[in-house]
Amino acid sequence: MKVLVVGSGGREHALVRSLLRDPGVRTVAAAPGNAGIAADAEVLPLDVSDPGAVADLAQHIAADLVVVGPEVALVNGAADAVRARGIACFGPSADAARLEGSKTYAKQIMEAAGVPTADSQTCETLAEVEGSLDSFGPPYVVKDDGLAAGKGVVVTQSRTDAIAHAEECLAKGSPQVVVEEFLDGPEVSLFVISDGTTCRPLLPAQDFKRVGDGDVGPNTGGMGAYCPLPWAPDDLVAAIMRDVAEPTIAEMARSGNPFEGVLYCGLALTSRGLRVVEFNCRFGDPEIQTVLALLDSPLSPLLDAAARGRLAEADPPRWRSGFAVNVVIASQGYPDRPVVGDPVSGLAEASAVEGVHVLHAGTSRDPGGELVTSGGRVLSVVGTGPSLADARDRAMRAVELVRIRGCQHRTDIAADAISGLTLPFRPTA
Ligand code: AMP
Ligand code: GLY
Repeated sequence: MKVLVVGSGGREHALVRSLLRDPGVRTVAAAPGNAGIAADAEVLPLDVSDPGAVADLAQHIAADLVVVGPEVALVNGAADAVRARGIACFGPSADAARLEGSKTYAKQIMEAAGVPTADSQTCETLAEVEGSLDSFGPPYVVKDDGLAAGKGVVVTQSRTDAIAHAEECLAKGSPQVVVEEFLDGPEVSLFVISDGTTCRPLLPAQDFKRVGDGDVGPNTGGMGAYCPLPWAPDDLVAAIMRDVAEPTIAEMARSGNPFEGVLYCGLALTSRGLRVVEFNCRFGDPEIQTVLALLDSPLSPLLDAAARGRLAEADPPRWRSGFAVNVVIASQGYPDRPVVGDPVSGLAEASAVEGVHVLHAGTSRDPGGELVTSGGRVLSVVGTGPSLADARDRAMRAVELVRIRGCQHRTDIAADAISGLTLPFRPTA
């Protein structure tokens, strides 16, 4: 089959890489892709935010399956537009993508489905925000209601900063901001493939959203990830499926808005049990790079079965033993003002480290054909190994070989898990 992957990040490069290794896939094309994807597959220009353009391209290249990466494409209706042309598409409809596109809608679904999440209040004025902040108390959590590329959330001890963030969201036109209860405890990302009815989990992963070591600085799209989670209780995935994914997918179907694609369950494991922090309507970046690094069975049958409503007939995914760690290399100034256009070198040396592969995100070719940075997150350096420590050491050794002026990466990805993080309570009871 011919598969079109829509998007241009490290997530899409990982999807392309997995599909290229899949014996059931004859051709992989990507749009718009990046310089690394272009070295592996055909890339085509595309404005991913334009659903008609996505559908036109899928039809033009006679794709058998379209896999949509970015949320903006899904929220705008790329999957609807592709399906309207009679082409199978892995990704939810615009209506179903509101699970990510509107925090208020996600809260409504969770409430109807009895899914545990943080208590929250949706506010339309600063006066309401102040009232909600005072009713929950610090630390304060304030979220833009709509899509904000992982940067719409502020978690702070400062009431002044919390109010300033709400003011900024309302000033730039968001009709609503959500104020919610602070959730303590480690976070887990579980990607659940669904055809609207049947659900299949992938491996649980953890990502690192803050820009700096020790979880300091602003939130980013994600600075690194690892999977699976050596510290997690054995029944974690089963509990998330039972308490979160299955009821959510069932409620979406019941309310006439079936979710076909991947439900990204972002959870906090708190002393009071599992709580949903967020739902996303697509694979998480940088986590999926680690999950796919351990996928042993072919990817396309799973995505194709989900796209065609036949997931119950598909074999569940099989996994390699061991661990994967992704360390993101970001440009100078990321996430506030990323510097672009700087040369990137050392990739051949980095890729030669045992168990390592390098995926591209914000890279392009300058007019002279040199590899240069073109975005905030530039590369995902993925290390695999028999232990989490091996996987991390390999990734870190490779990261040190990459040369980009002023670039940044975190040095503590998976560090706590390696040094023996344990949970002092059972979140899955
Ligand atoms: P979101 O855009 O909802 O995914 O939030 C981004 C990040 O902000 C999450 O991954 C958490 O690290 C943090 N966050 C969001 N909501 C909460 C909460 N209620 N309590 C604590 N941290 C949160
Ligand atoms: N890993 C965070 C995200 O994809 O939103």
